Amino acid sequence: MAEAYDEIGVGYSNQRKADPRIARLIVEALGDAERVINVGAGTGSYEPTDRVVFAIEPSSLMIDMRAQGSAPVVRGTAERLPFRDRSFDAALVSLSLHHWMDWNAGMAELRRIARRAVIFTFDPAVHFEPWLVRDYLPEIADLRGSHPPDPEAIGHALGHSTVVTVPIPYDCHDGFLHAYWRRPWAYLDPAVQASISGIAQLPATVRESGITRLAEDLHSGKWYEQHRDLVTRTQIDCGYRLVISH
Ligand SMILES: C[S@@+](CC[C@H](N)C(=O)[O-])C[C@H]1O[C@@H](n2cnc3c(N)ncnc32)[C@H](O)[C@@H]1O
Repeated sequence: MAEAYDEIGVGYSNQRKADPRIARLIVEALGDAERVINVGAGTGSYEPTDRVVFAIEPSSLMIDMRAQGSAPVVRGTAERLPFRDRSFDAALVSLSLHHWMDWNAGMAELRRIARRAVIFTFDPAVHFEPWLVRDYLPEIADLRGSHPPDPEAIGHALGHSTVVTVPIPYDCHDGFLHAYWRRPWAYLDPAVQASISGIAQLPATVRESGITRLAEDLHSGKWYEQHRDLVTRTQIDCGYRLVISH
């Protein structure tokens, strides 16, 4: 799983960019931490630029897509972090935890190398309810690696923690699973599909069948009839959460 992004990461940096509103919440949560380690850093989204940051990432493809001038990166996994105890003021994990082979081992490593942690994750009890998964691609919820632990359990593993809801704006700049909740036509784009691991990992026949039904419902107007309540909303809760340890 740790190397999965060597395949599904193709095109990631074109579609997956930090959303400034989510980035602001993350920076606030990092508080006055001066030395930050970004674990499962990917191409570097949500890495703060106003402090000392190091990154760790298992996929060489993702590492190669990091922008010039981004934080120095080491190849490795969360379960075995190549840093001394208490090397960092804070650890940041953004949309990576659900891919880890052994999240308990990763949590123990975060606690060992950093004084506190900020985890951007999702609550599996809420995350599979929005229309894309519920009505078109329910198989996403059955994928191995699609269920991170629930945020309360993550908080428990980290010690004294707070869980904060991260609402997703209708024009989210990032391209994760529910980013396009009010722009449904975006999911018809193969490049958008390819940069969302839950969609990219589905068997092609399953993916095509769900996306074809969505295309039909958009063309017939059925989608708009069924989601009148959504088209005037500016943000919704799709289950994304920040777990902030203190
Ligand atoms: C959805 S991407 C998120 C990347 C970046 N943090 C972001 O917010 O855009 C998930 C990342 O987790 C990495 N990953 C997978 N398994 C991992 C593990 N065991 N330890 C650390 N990172 C892992 C993947 O290679 C991938 O880059």
